[in-house]
Amino acid sequence: MKLVSKNIFNKAAAEFILSSAEKAIQKNGVFSIALSGGTTPFGVYKLLAEEPFNRLFPWNAIHIFWGDERCVPYDDKRSNYKSAYDNLISKIEIPTENIHKIPSITNPGKAALEYEKVLKKVFKTKNNCLPEFDLILLGMGTDGHTASLFPNSKSVKEKKKWIIETDIPKIEPRVKRVTLTLPVINNAKSILFLISGKEKKEIVDEIIKNNAEAQKNYPAAMVKPREEITWMICEQ
Ligand code: 6PG
Repeated sequence: MKLVSKNIFNKAAAEFILSSAEKAIQKNGVFSIALSGGTTPFGVYKLLAEEPFNRLFPWNAIHIFWGDERCVPYDDKRSNYKSAYDNLISKIEIPTENIHKIPSITNPGKAALEYEKVLKKVFKTKNNCLPEFDLILLGMGTDGHTASLFPNSKSVKEKKKWIIETDIPKIEPRVKRVTLTLPVINNAKSILFLISGKEKKEIVDEIIKNNAEAQKNYPAAMVKPREEITWMICEQ
């Protein structure tokens, strides 16, 4: 796995997201994407809001969700919604009803239940069938966590619930989170991992080369979407 510069990374990721959107909209008239938290995607979000990408996206056919959220107010700098709003959503013409943010209420259990209702409504799922995202963006921590699925945590073992509250993690920001679970993540058509930093490159190499072993330590190794998984890594 080769580390690339931030500029190459941001452009490659933006082009990947655009082509995924074009394929899905051509096929189904709509594109569903779940955004990642953390800091690595900031440059990608910024680029999507700039020309030529901004005018190439049919925003009215795109539904934006989040893979996880920190249980803080939306105007808190730790909020994943705020990061995406500041870098992308506030700069594009997308219908408000196409923005499906995770309720950032202090009660994470209630937030999880509410967001499950949102997914059921937007994906029109029947008989408890899992929602099928066209694309989910994921990051990864130096401990191999992804979304807010932390190693050896209750949330990474969840088999039934779609969204779950997590305990306060050992890493910053040390706040409760709400996260998509592996059953929903692995029901997505496509996953794009956006990762930054040399130290994480070794983990990715291990996940790709020795997946069964890596699954014992790294939640990111348990990600297995329906159609494709793409890894993009850049320098810090
Ligand atoms: C979060 C993320 C988390 C993040 C990784 C990597 O809400 O924190 O969903 O999984 O992607 O911690 O974060 P960086 O991109 O900041 O390294």
